[in-house]
Amino acid sequence: MNPKNAIVIVGAQWGDEGKGKVVDLFTERAELVVRYAGGANAGHTLYVGNDKVVMRLLPSGILREGIPCVLGQGMVIDPSALVGELGELAARGRHAARDLIVSDRAHLLFSYHQLVDGLREKATGGAIGTTKRGIGPAYEDKIARRGVRLGLLRHPSRLREEVASALAAWAPTIVALGGEVPTVDAVVEPVLRAGETLLPLLRETSLFVDDALRADKRALFEGAQGTLLDVDHGTYPFVTSSSSIAGGACTGAGVGPARIGEVIGITKAYTTRVGGGPFPTELLSDVGERLRQAGGEFGAVTGRPRRTGWLDLPGLRYAARVNGLTGLALTKLDVLSTMASIDVCVAYDTPEGRTPHLPVDSLADVEAARPVFRTFDGWSTPIEGARSLAELPAAARRYIDFIEESVGVPLSLVSVGPRRDETIVLRSPFTH
Ligand code: IMP
Repeated sequence: MNPKNAIVIVGAQWGDEGKGKVVDLFTERAELVVRYAGGANAGHTLYVGNDKVVMRLLPSGILREGIPCVLGQGMVIDPSALVGELGELAARGRHAARDLIVSDRAHLLFSYHQLVDGLREKATGGAIGTTKRGIGPAYEDKIARRGVRLGLLRHPSRLREEVASALAAWAPTIVALGGEVPTVDAVVEPVLRAGETLLPLLRETSLFVDDALRADKRALFEGAQGTLLDVDHGTYPFVTSSSSIAGGACTGAGVGPARIGEVIGITKAYTTRVGGGPFPTELLSDVGERLRQAGGEFGAVTGRPRRTGWLDLPGLRYAARVNGLTGLALTKLDVLSTMASIDVCVAYDTPEGRTPHLPVDSLADVEAARPVFRTFDGWSTPIEGARSLAELPAAARRYIDFIEESVGVPLSLVSVGPRRDETIVLRSPFTH
């Protein structure tokens, strides 16, 4: 078994780093795609023929016909949403259910999870700015040991009982938040209906993945969200409720760390964040607006404008450390072509002095920190045609060389445009 056959792709910032395109390129040679964390909070735009579809639960790798696609046990899955996504793809001729394998240990996400998430967001004025998909409450149930797993779809009466007791536990919260407690039937019926489609897809997925790795199949573990949204390592409490870092692939898919040989971190050439929480390099000026427009920085599903800012190298070094990055994929470099000059955060000034580290230990620390910027010249010429580093303008080259050197992780690829071929590939995946 060669660990180099197992690659984790992970967002190195706050999500939306352009993982879809990188995964698309990487899956050209993959024989298995695994998603390991989160749920329908992710949103990636995929192109099926000429049609644009947005997938939330299914990973980007689902578009490769004949390649098994696994939803691992680290996920929380709303069955109706999953069946809906399969339907959308099928309507466009991609019968993805044939390639899909769903963990029977992944947790079911019910309508009351979504209800509580929405009510809480309303009550706090959207302080966290969640996606309102019920992710937090579903993981709360999992950790509280009253979650219901997909395997129970095989036993409807047991499922109904477990839902009844979980719902009873949530009822006081729902009432206190001004909501109406749904009936058990209203919760369970749509789940059982969707279950008819999902039952044949349920498997013990960690065994399936292990068998594939033992057979030296090339496996891609597709992360969702990003490092700084990880529940343990992100800007807590402004995080999602799952382990979105590379280590999450081990727990969320059920593979040992020694089986994974490569971890590729994806970062934009600048930074974005959706929802609340600290963002020290945020640009609240018209420069930020220009980045938003040039980069099309609006949520794939909600259209929510993303917050924009300069690249944060201490943040990237942090991502390199907690994920153990072996490669860096830099996306959306072309978006910076409109900038006369480009700032990049190289350190932080804190009450204790200057530090090369991102102060993520507490909210107070990160709020007190001031980014120290270094300014680079822009290049003001289109770069979409570049297919090698040598073809980039000297100023763009200086910028990315500086990133690579500061993060201390080799660049695997640089994306210079939205199209598939608008990419400088420096190290092809699975070519050890
Ligand atoms: P939740 O995951 O819906 O609970 O949201 C928690 C935080 O994570 C919010 O700030 C969301 O905007 C953010 N978030 C969740 N999923 C994504 C994603 O796929 N991309 C970017 N941000 C996300």
